[in-house]
Amino acid sequence: MAFKIFEFISFIFLTFILLAPIGHAKRSTPSHKTSSPFDFINKLKGCHKGNNTKEIHKLKAYLEKFGYLKYENKTHATDDDFDDILESAIKTYQKNYHIKPSGIVDDETISKMQAPRCGVPDIVNGTNYMHPRNMKHEPGSSNIHTVSHFSFIEGNPRWPSSKTHLTYRFLPNFPPNAMEPVARAFQKWDSSTHFTFARAQTNQNADLVIGFHSGDHGDGSPFDGRGGTLAHAFPPTNGRFHYDADERWSIGAVEGAFDLESIALHEIGHLLGLGHSSVNAAIMYSGIGSGLTKSLHADDIAGIRALYNR
Ligand SMILES: *[C@@H]1O[C@H](CO)[C@@H](O)[C@H](O)[C@H]1NC(C)=O
Ligand SMILES: *[C@@H]1O[C@H](CO)[C@@H](O)[C@H](O)[C@H]1NC(C)=O
Ligand SMILES: *[C@@H]1O[C@H](CO)[C@@H](O)[C@H](O)[C@H]1NC(C)=O
Ligand SMILES: [Zn+2]
Ligand SMILES: [Zn+2]
Repeated sequence: MAFKIFEFISFIFLTFILLAPIGHAKRSTPSHKTSSPFDFINKLKGCHKGNNTKEIHKLKAYLEKFGYLKYENKTHATDDDFDDILESAIKTYQKNYHIKPSGIVDDETISKMQAPRCGVPDIVNGTNYMHPRNMKHEPGSSNIHTVSHFSFIEGNPRWPSSKTHLTYRFLPNFPPNAMEPVARAFQKWDSSTHFTFARAQTNQNADLVIGFHSGDHGDGSPFDGRGGTLAHAFPPTNGRFHYDADERWSIGAVEGAFDLESIALHEIGHLLGLGHSSVNAAIMYSGIGSGLTKSLHADDIAGIRALYNR
């Protein structure tokens, strides 16, 4: 019992020191009612083709950001017309998230779209689904009963086959207490794949570089304040992985905060070449809720094996 209480106190203490340096940006916001950059989607409840509602251009921007839309004519990208292209993008989104592809902004679609998520697009130019591409399917193989829903990044970028040991380093502004959760995430990928990872010595070059950034930070994928997108990472062999510094971060499951290690597991998947999975329980699913932890799933491991032919 005493040990449990001690554990609990250390946990609270850790959470406090962790949130202190990172979560300062929006301290004045009451924590019980936090707004999200995705809140506008609520106002579009029930919208369908033919509607012309004030916030529709934001829905177009949202779907373009995550890969579902690509207007040739920029006028249509920024107007509030619910046109054929938008309807088709919503249907593709709904198929990816196992929602009936009605093309209507219904409750289920709103609830998925509003969830905090990774900033990496699900697909490219609205042309495909979150399924493996360019893969040889072998119907006679022993995997015939395995339904996998992992995906690769467009063009299947990956590390050269000789490069199985990857080093990582933290940017100078990285909170020291957030390093251990990231190290644990690397350890988990290390023990489940053919990759090995090690932290590079200070001042050494590293394959992977991890940092905290806020708003527009110069890589073409600005963060959006509290809520909305939480983190993103670039495909092989770029190596950059960024946390949104405006989120509330935690070590482990803490109500209203996002678990550093779970998000690191997800972003490392991108660093290795995985795209988003349509399996809810997979770490490569685009959304990760607050107040919970997730771990690697068979679908994630199957994705790495397929990408690297292991
Ligand atoms: C969408 O259009 C229909 C008519 O087709 C209308 O009844 C409805 O109020 C509109 N919805 C919104 C949110 O504007
Ligand atoms: C874009 O759409 C607008 C409105 O329909 C139209 O007036 C304009 O000519 C289009 N531009 C191009 C380049 O097609
Ligand atoms: C997506 O669209 C852009 C611009 O239209 C084009 O340059 C790019 O090649 C497209 N990508 C794919 C994978 O189709
Ligand atoms: Zn992602
Ligand atoms: Zn970034």
